[in-house]
Amino acid sequence: MRFYIGGSMSVPHDKKIRVLIVDDIPETRDNLKKLLYFEDDIEIIGAASNGREGVDQAAQLRPDIVLMDINMPGMDGIQASELISQQDPNIQVVMMSVQGEADYLRRSMLAGAREFLIKPFSSEELANSLRRVNQLAATRRVVVSKQTPTAPSPDSEYYQPIAPVRPRGAKIISVYSSKGGVGVSTIAVNLAIALREETRSRVAIMDGSFQFGDVGVLLNLPANRTIADVVESKNDPDEDLLNGILAAHSSGVKVLLAPPRPEQGELVTPDIVRKTLEVMKKQFDYIVIDTDKGINDSLLAIFDICDQIVLLSTADISSLKNAKLFFEVTQQLEYPASKTLLVLNKYDGKTGINARDVEGNIKHPVTGQIARDDKATTLALTRGIPVVITQKGISFSQSIIAMARMLRREPDPTPAPAPKPPVPSNGHSANGSAPKMQPPKPKRRFMIFGKSS
Ligand SMILES: Nc1ncnc2c1ncn2[C@@H]1O[C@H](COP(=O)(O)OP(=O)(O)OP(=O)(O)O)[C@@H](O)[C@H]1O
Ligand SMILES: [Mg+2]
Repeated sequence: MRFYIGGSMSVPHDKKIRVLIVDDIPETRDNLKKLLYFEDDIEIIGAASNGREGVDQAAQLRPDIVLMDINMPGMDGIQASELISQQDPNIQVVMMSVQGEADYLRRSMLAGAREFLIKPFSSEELANSLRRVNQLAATRRVVVSKQTPTAPSPDSEYYQPIAPVRPRGAKIISVYSSKGGVGVSTIAVNLAIALREETRSRVAIMDGSFQFGDVGVLLNLPANRTIADVVESKNDPDEDLLNGILAAHSSGVKVLLAPPRPEQGELVTPDIVRKTLEVMKKQFDYIVIDTDKGINDSLLAIFDICDQIVLLSTADISSLKNAKLFFEVTQQLEYPASKTLLVLNKYDGKTGINARDVEGNIKHPVTGQIARDDKATTLALTRGIPVVITQKGISFSQSIIAMARMLRREPDPTPAPAPKPPVPSNGHSANGSAPKMQPPKPKRRFMIFGKSS
């Protein structure tokens, strides 16, 4: 099994990939050498038996990739990876583990590892991982060198201006929390409906909790047709297939439901998720994804493809610790900070922690907060009708509507810098100075309601 971090790109390389092995078990080191013996483009340049030795050899040999065992006596793979990444960011680390736990994956990513391999793996899997990590590193180096002052001048034949990529197809918004029960599904369905009402455009919601999805319950839709039908069709999804699978909600939002049974959810691979979203991107203007907690391959595929992540947290110490870790992960994934909007849910001021405290602790702006409303959300759950449909006027719905307005696509800014439309932030409207070629700055808050924080 393999988790990868980042996208795939193709960069030609004609020199061998130089690999340093770090593993405390001599047989494993030998096996790894054997697995790579017939790969002409990969060369083992050294082997170390613990983390410390690995760090020293990496400094001396300057390999392209260190193939690192996570569990070793003395300095373990995580610590060694951290030191190697600090010492020379050009050296890539591929972490190996017998366990595939999310915690190991997360810690490896934080330590700077680019890929995570779970033992046992085949020679093909190993070689492909090494090639892909090497290609990605080469691409990064090319991009970085193009951005430095030593990059070719505009007159040079090698000059390629890095133009901002214009959005194409749907804007994809993932709602996420690393902790369960924070309100991800509730906020995702209400947000999708609010987006539909605010924009009158084509809006879809995907239930990304493939094993235990709740969107069908929240919208009172039976799971007759679900993403499991994409799995079963065996072909790549296309518009016709999805049109037959998407359920129509009375609000006008189209719904891609999760499979009715958890074992069917297991069969939804990152590739299926990616391909499905690619087709849906052409069919809709907005796609909201109710994501699952934890970090796995499918979630990383969703995060890679989406335009915006709404990170939900509650204002308590444990959720905030997780939110902080999440930002460390997105930094490792090289997502811009503005890709993630931090939103507090179930806010009632009772924990003694307010938005300002959160900002001070996490060092990321709190974009908004949604009031705790047990009565309205419980009633909505019982009826299968989201709050934003039945009780538009209450604080909960108003903040969801404000969030939808904030996430609504801005008019195309390319031809001439036009004045920005008014933004419902703290009663002030955005000033009209146009951002020229820079990406728009994230608006800090869409609404602060209840007691000022
Ligand atoms: N703002 C809110 N005020 C009060 N209750 C809320 C609020 N938002 C969500 N809830 C309630 O919290 C509970 C969990 O919500 P929900 O199922 O949406 O969370 P989740 O993060 O998707 O959980 P899971 O981990 O099970 O997927 C539900 O009972 C829901 O009604
Ligand atoms: Mg949920």
